[in-house]
Amino acid sequence: MGFFPDEDDRVNGREIVTGKAKFIAEHDIPNITYGVLVVSTIAKGSIIAIVTKPAEKAPGVIAVITHINSPTVPGYEAGGNPVKGPTGGKGFQVFNGPAIYFDGQPIALVVADTFERATYAASLVKTQYQKDEHQTNFDEAGKSVIALEDARYKDNIRGEVDGYKNAQVKIEAEYFVPIEVHNPMELHATIALWEGDDKVTVYEKTQGVKSSQRSIMNAFKLKEENVRVYAPFVGGGFGSALRTWPHAIAALIGAKKTGKPVKLVLTRNQMFNLVGYRPYTKQKIGIGATADGKLLGITHEADSITSMYEVFNERSVDVSRFLYACPNVTTRYHVYPFNVSTPTWMRGPGEATGTFALESAMDELSYALNIDPIELRLRNYAETDPQSGKPYSSKFLKEAYQLGADKIGWKARDPKPRSMKEGEWMVGYGMGTGVFGAGRGTAKALARIFVDGTLIVQSAVSDSGPGTATAMTKIASTSMGIPGNKISFELGDSSLPPGPTQGGSTTTSTLGSAVHDVCISLKKKLLELAKESSVFHTTEIHTTKIEDFIFENAFITLASDRKKRLSYSDILKQNNLNQLEVTEESKGNEEMKKYVAYSYAVHFVKVLVHPATGVLKINRAVVATDGGKIISPKTAKSQMIGGVVGGIGMALMEEGVIDDRYGRWVNNNFADYHVPVHADVPHIDTLFVDKPDPILNPTGAKGIGEVALIGFAAAVANAVYHATGKRIRELPITPDKLI
Ligand code: MOS
Repeated sequence: MGFFPDEDDRVNGREIVTGKAKFIAEHDIPNITYGVLVVSTIAKGSIIAIVTKPAEKAPGVIAVITHINSPTVPGYEAGGNPVKGPTGGKGFQVFNGPAIYFDGQPIALVVADTFERATYAASLVKTQYQKDEHQTNFDEAGKSVIALEDARYKDNIRGEVDGYKNAQVKIEAEYFVPIEVHNPMELHATIALWEGDDKVTVYEKTQGVKSSQRSIMNAFKLKEENVRVYAPFVGGGFGSALRTWPHAIAALIGAKKTGKPVKLVLTRNQMFNLVGYRPYTKQKIGIGATADGKLLGITHEADSITSMYEVFNERSVDVSRFLYACPNVTTRYHVYPFNVSTPTWMRGPGEATGTFALESAMDELSYALNIDPIELRLRNYAETDPQSGKPYSSKFLKEAYQLGADKIGWKARDPKPRSMKEGEWMVGYGMGTGVFGAGRGTAKALARIFVDGTLIVQSAVSDSGPGTATAMTKIASTSMGIPGNKISFELGDSSLPPGPTQGGSTTTSTLGSAVHDVCISLKKKLLELAKESSVFHTTEIHTTKIEDFIFENAFITLASDRKKRLSYSDILKQNNLNQLEVTEESKGNEEMKKYVAYSYAVHFVKVLVHPATGVLKINRAVVATDGGKIISPKTAKSQMIGGVVGGIGMALMEEGVIDDRYGRWVNNNFADYHVPVHADVPHIDTLFVDKPDPILNPTGAKGIGEVALIGFAAAVANAVYHATGKRIRELPITPDKLI
């Protein structure tokens, strides 16, 4: 490692690690004021009285805003106040009435001249409630609490209903995934600056500057050009920054009411319930096969939770419909309304939860059949999409099984549970498959080349950590024929050409296509200009197509006569241009409608379990990925490592606990809610099949953000079974469950 970055480094890595990169709350805004939320201490009921006088009189306080004096949020009228239960997609409407739906619900905003003064004044706000009986007891789901109806998630039957029941060999089991929280290192924060009544600038922690802009436009009925959202750097999201949460609206309300810019940063406590979480999910699987391991049926059922004011659904059971070839698949999915805030997508949403059950059940079935777990999966390998019958645009899952198995030394394991030891530690090997749809949406990108040979590419996308600017720089470099160090990729500003929200593992596929396309357009434009130059101005060349030229090292070269070449700079110079720019929109292609695409990650782990204490160490982790073409090897590797670390948390530590007596979070802090630290993380081998998908998009990339985590928890549970003979079906796998 020299002073100069490797070609493969993150383009803005230096800015990030040296502190030069500004995360949301770090933006220095003149005359900034500080907003601190006061939250409810009951889980259901309504506010009878809220006493704000002492807070208002406290030093430095500018305003105390509650439902009584809050300015009207015009967009609220459309939804109404959702007091009557879930209303679909209507988010919680902050300061819009006295109703309390969950403990920790924002009920007031104190704005003061310093953060400390605002925090102190917030402690002086006193509230009197009428308390109603709340519902946070998950055991009541399906009993006293009735599931919500949502047509998109109705029961789904392929083949025979509950067909697994007729199989020769079958497993029936229940699996539990607790509440887990994203809790990225960067706290969620919003800075709002109004200019007059109808124009606002917002620094917002968001995975989508355009979607945040849209939400704010809708809430305050503003024009697109009057809402500018910045998120130049985002310190992790994992799904928590996919939507505009109530605290952001509160900051906008605070800034509007006071006429001053307001910065609102959530506390770590508030991060546990104000920006979504992975919902608690009970799953039941029935799976059956013939004696030689052919799947006959899978029934996958899940019960999950949502808030009282909004439905949240995810595809936890769907994974059983598409991962394996199986004639009879039944899925049932229900959500129950509780006095909690609304859950949201968390890395590998749905599939992460669903594969814990399915990939555990497959492992159980493999032991019941006495067939190697990988062999069982190969016997049920889906050669075409089991749901639609369509072919895959690409699928290299077999290759991923092979790569991972070879790396961890799968063949050398003794398949018998409790058979392997290292000293006094029991040793276990396990694997689990991660799968997630590979999609492609619509995006615009702008490319502008300057006479000095540098290129700027822009799109209104956020980079919440995967290294989007790096991957896009690589794509631009390849497509444009310009070295990466001459390219800068600009993002994180809603005024740039509209880019996608960074979610669902689609950024590289979606935006990469736009960057590819815009570079091709810019090359064509350069070629048009170049054809007029003395170098190329011959009749022969006038009729030559773009394919007859090489675009490399910032030169256009005639392939048939390499002496004929012209630099991009010279093309601009000869045309008296200082710069040349193009904007392109890129959409999914027609051809893809005939195909289906998924990304896959096969997770392998080796665990050590201490027989006396139940202490569990993940000794090795190997992840072999089919994510299509890997655009940026180093950031892709980091992405996989990050997903595995998240998976270690899911498998071994993370569990949000709500005390049902009060409907209140118990462990909403990092002392009590455990996440992996360095000592918990072994060496992680990241392997990539690295074969391009030829149809999904021109870059060949399929996406890896979600599969990095999906399937990992099952791999650990399966390894624990191999080590100990104990099947743990309830996450997290803590030592008490192993002794
Ligand atoms: Mo992802 S859960 O779409 O950030």
